Amino acid sequence: MEFRIREEIKAMKRYVAGKPISEVKRELGLETVVKMASNENPMGASPKVKEMMKRTLEDISLYPDSGSYGLRHELSLRTGRAMEEIIIGGGSDSLIKVISSTFLYPGDEIIMGEHSFSRYEDNAKLMGAKVVKTAMEDLTLHLDLMLEAVSDKTKIIYLCNPNNPTGSSFGKEELEAFLKRVPSSVMVILDEAYREYVTREDYFDALNYLDAYKNLIVLRTFSKAYGMASLRVGYGFADPELIGYFYRVVDPFDVNLFAQEAAVTALQDEEFLHEVVAENTRGKEFFYKELEDLGQSYVVTDANFILWDTQKDDMEIFRRLMQKGYIIRPGGFLGIPGHIRVSISTMDHNIGFMKAYKEVLAEMDGI
Ligand SMILES: Cc1ncc(COP(=O)(O)O)c(C=O)c1O
Repeated sequence: MEFRIREEIKAMKRYVAGKPISEVKRELGLETVVKMASNENPMGASPKVKEMMKRTLEDISLYPDSGSYGLRHELSLRTGRAMEEIIIGGGSDSLIKVISSTFLYPGDEIIMGEHSFSRYEDNAKLMGAKVVKTAMEDLTLHLDLMLEAVSDKTKIIYLCNPNNPTGSSFGKEELEAFLKRVPSSVMVILDEAYREYVTREDYFDALNYLDAYKNLIVLRTFSKAYGMASLRVGYGFADPELIGYFYRVVDPFDVNLFAQEAAVTALQDEEFLHEVVAENTRGKEFFYKELEDLGQSYVVTDANFILWDTQKDDMEIFRRLMQKGYIIRPGGFLGIPGHIRVSISTMDHNIGFMKAYKEVLAEMDGI
């Protein structure tokens, strides 16, 4: 039997997620496995969020509020933006799909960095759009190259800041120069999944640009610094007219009740967020120092992961680290062979990882 599958789907590849801990334990018979592959929060979620989840169990049989009123209200209070400018989705992944579905016809173009978040590409291809990738030789996004790539077919430019999988970021001046030059007919999606971790001093609040640039959409998530990846909740800010269209496209019950209640609580626990960010910053300094001692060059990161050049076979490093109970992301999977991307964890795990990594390097030198 021949299924009449759309050609766009046939041309796509399945997303390769970081290996789950349970799978590695099962396959290798290991008792302890540390996952440093998917940029999850090693400190978990706020204890207050967990308490709220328990209380929400009482309402498990009810459909969630499809307009996520409580969460949009809380976000509005905290950001000063109107509720009509806010959309909530089942992770920013879901919102990327909503945006693609809203704007893209077959043959339209999107622009993204050559090493950026793969879901931009997958969702564009799903709609039959063409993906134009700009060079990132130094593993950072070049906004000027993105502007040069604009054609009359360009509908969307994705700016991932900080950028996954490189961790690099850009500051206020660069953003402003870009926004001034980008045609207003081109949508700019500023994906700030890792914004809470940023330490560079010239970082900006992207929401300040929404009034002047109606073509700007800002995406954020509760999956990273708020430690709620399993709950699937992300959010976006844009012009109210656009938000209205997006709400026509997004699944009505995309965001479950637990996610909505938990996200409100997470926003209120600012102390937990500060602890998470401080631990990440400590971890990042640790990696910088260790890698400098090893003479390995890394990309300066503003996220909760770090990418570096191992000068070796990254797949072999990935396999050997897994044998020692550490799951990381090999650059081969990300189109950056020779590199590995490691999620920054708690200091205990960071130290344990570095010890294992040095052993792997020594083993490979001895081959
Ligand atoms: C840059 C970027 N955007 C979006 C996402 C998706 O996040 P969410 O869990 O909110 O769907 C990720 C997740 O890894 C990401 O790295």
